[in-house]
Amino acid sequence: MTTEQEIERAVALLCAGELVAFPTETVYGLGADARNCAAVAKIYAVKGRPADHPLIVHLPDAAHLDAWARDISPAARAVAEKFWPGPLTLILKRHPDVPDCVTGGQDTVGLRVPNHPLALALLKAFAEKGSGGIAAPSANKFGRISPTTAQHVREDLGDAVALVLDGGPCPVGIESTIVDMSGDRTVILRPGMISAVDLGLFLGRMPEVKGNAHSVKTPGAHAKHYAPRTPLLLVPDDTVAVAVRTALGKGEKIAVLAPYPAPIGHPLIVAWEVAPKTEKEFARTLYATLRKLDAVGADLIIVQRPPWPALIDRLMRAAAGAGA
Ligand code: TXA
Ligand code: MG
Repeated sequence: MTTEQEIERAVALLCAGELVAFPTETVYGLGADARNCAAVAKIYAVKGRPADHPLIVHLPDAAHLDAWARDISPAARAVAEKFWPGPLTLILKRHPDVPDCVTGGQDTVGLRVPNHPLALALLKAFAEKGSGGIAAPSANKFGRISPTTAQHVREDLGDAVALVLDGGPCPVGIESTIVDMSGDRTVILRPGMISAVDLGLFLGRMPEVKGNAHSVKTPGAHAKHYAPRTPLLLVPDDTVAVAVRTALGKGEKIAVLAPYPAPIGHPLIVAWEVAPKTEKEFARTLYATLRKLDAVGADLIIVQRPPWPALIDRLMRAAAGAGA
């Protein structure tokens, strides 16, 4: 099938109220027609996700904003124009026509234009035939690691999805930055590769940051999310060696992600991945690496904490939810 034929099929499925998984630059999304609540209900059923968790509506371009949001401030519009298409979700006051099933009953809606050719082709084609918005969470079971390849989606969701569009590995690799601009303040609700500094420089004022790993004192209270099945220990700089010795001393099989290669060979060290040196590369490879380390039969995954907020956030969530 050519790409055009696949897109045509995907649009027909979405119009018929079926689910289609598609690539974005961040992670794969599990899409449904955002104005069809029966279709949206299938997303919650397939993911096993609580129905009060709102979904992000994906749009083909910023020109569609007014069909989904109201009272959009000039600053919010400028952020959309600057960062879309891209890994940024805007929370805005919802247009009265946006159904409760998408917003979890809230008065706001999450909107994003993804920067991926296949996603944009799908969104453009769907805007011509359908409602123009595709509601899509990450295409994984609730609480598990987000998928960054079509193969991950198939492994997680199997036959529950009518079609998985394959756009290769996602180039960004972690979920979008979520920015609440529905009120007077600008608040980052989820850190991502578009940073607080990127937004601050553009707006001329630093946004507030909520839900950042640094502001969370008790990892146990963290939402269990993005988690492997194997318990995961996130350790500060230079304490990997201590954590490794302790685990080996207890006879535990370990899988490690650290910025340097394994200093020793040991039968209980069943995997050791060298972490990338840059934030971009770390993000791009993180979820595939976690899946790999989760699959080697270790009792414990040990990860050295990287220096970047968005990645610390995902790893803290992984550590809190792992083994669940
Ligand atoms: O990169 C991404 O954002 C990916 C791709 C597929 O676009 N999507 C994604 O969706 O990560 P999901 O459903 O896994 O995460 C969406 C997050 C949830 O934590 C949800 O609570 C939040 O967005 N969200 C959505 N609408 C919201 C709203 N109106 N107010 C506050 N948070 C909202
Ligand atoms: Mg998700």
